[in-house]
Amino acid sequence: MATVADYIDENMPRFREELLEFLRIPSVSARSEHRMDMSRAAEWLADRMREAGLDVSVEETDGLQIILGEYRGAGDDAPTVLLYGHYDVQPAEPLDEWTSPPFEPEVRDGKLFGRGSVDDKGQLYLHVKAIEAHMKVNGSLPVNVIVLAEGEEEVGSEHLMPFVKANRDRLACDYVVISDTTMVGEDVPTIGTSLRGLAYLEVHVRGPRTDLHSGSYGGAVVNPATALARIIASMHDDNWHATIDGFYDDVEAMDEYREKLKAVPFDDAGFRKDTGTTEVGEKGYTTPERLWIRPTVEVNGLLSGYTGEGAKTVLPAKAMAKISFRLVPAQNPDRIAELVEAHIRKVAPEGVEVEVQRLHGGNAWRATLGSELYTAAERALAAAWDREVVYAGEGGSIPIVPEFERVLGAPVLLMGFGLPGENAHAPDEWMSVENFEKGTRASARLWTELAR
Ligand code: BES
Ligand code: MN
Ligand code: MN
Repeated sequence: MATVADYIDENMPRFREELLEFLRIPSVSARSEHRMDMSRAAEWLADRMREAGLDVSVEETDGLQIILGEYRGAGDDAPTVLLYGHYDVQPAEPLDEWTSPPFEPEVRDGKLFGRGSVDDKGQLYLHVKAIEAHMKVNGSLPVNVIVLAEGEEEVGSEHLMPFVKANRDRLACDYVVISDTTMVGEDVPTIGTSLRGLAYLEVHVRGPRTDLHSGSYGGAVVNPATALARIIASMHDDNWHATIDGFYDDVEAMDEYREKLKAVPFDDAGFRKDTGTTEVGEKGYTTPERLWIRPTVEVNGLLSGYTGEGAKTVLPAKAMAKISFRLVPAQNPDRIAELVEAHIRKVAPEGVEVEVQRLHGGNAWRATLGSELYTAAERALAAAWDREVVYAGEGGSIPIVPEFERVLGAPVLLMGFGLPGENAHAPDEWMSVENFEKGTRASARLWTELAR
């Protein structure tokens, strides 16, 4: 009789084709014009989860749909695993920077290119396929499984938070498993040990009633673009240390962890190749420290004045910036937003009006290692890659993770299959075909390991 591993190998070409189909649905959560696509993606995934053998419901919220797939057949003695992922993707712009169109995925050079390929559709879908493999081969799963897929991760998981609280009994579980992070390098299976938090703001600066002739009025009124540039520039000192009062108050020292981090080899050449630039950051910290245990101030977008072809002499009436702050334990996103607002009010020059809007936020997270969840994952990953697992921090954020631990009381495992240079959130996002395959095998193996 065929094994689960055989089933996965035999059906892999079909799994890949299905993933391409999933990627063709432009499920961009940030854009209201993609509302229909969001429902289409939710329904598409719900159907595939049903075919895999799960009991599936599509749950309505005040925002986008949440998909729940359940398997309770392993019985009360077996552990229950909650598997979380997201079917929404980031906006694909700038479109003309893509080699192939973002929603017409294609495989080149062992890489599956398309928006959402690695973040997070590919990483979510491989778990569905591992479940299918167990169900088709054995008619059962070794553990109870709850698959929870949301459509708002990329916009802050606003409606998932209350959903988890309201459904804590139905979502009760022993472990949470998430594949939505990256491995430290090719062929190095990685378990993520931390995530940063996030506070996201939009800053609007308004000056004159309308755009003005920069000759007739320039020099006599404050230019909103200049005012905004000054506000932004005031947030760092020359050592790239944030200058916002109180910003570091709640940051934990982490001296012990810093010692350990020194032993982690860092691939400088790889970093330069992936980013196309050199490492520069907060003075006194190494690159892994800057990425994993230090908070940041980041401008995500700037808008003001004339940016078309040629020169236009104009004094813009307004300017806008989207600014986010990556946070570490135990910084609180709301408190950070307050501190930043106070800073902006303090430094804003006279002659312009400044409005600060809060977008989303989330807490940082650090793994509590040592549970059997991690040893099972080590075995499953090592088997798929034929190589020992590495533990590493992550610079990104998944806002629901600390909430899972707080509300459900279950430890979270970050078992990600992304790679450095994968272009997540950027043009030419890709997922390694090999990782999709090995990830599927590791997932299938994890269910078996957890039941031991
Ligand atoms: N998958 C990422 C999170 C991530 C990225 C973890 C890199 C580890 C390494 C996730 O989809 C994401 O992009 N999250 C957002 C959070 C947000 C919009 C609230 C992020 O980190 O910007
Ligand atoms: Mn993601
Ligand atoms: Mn993302």
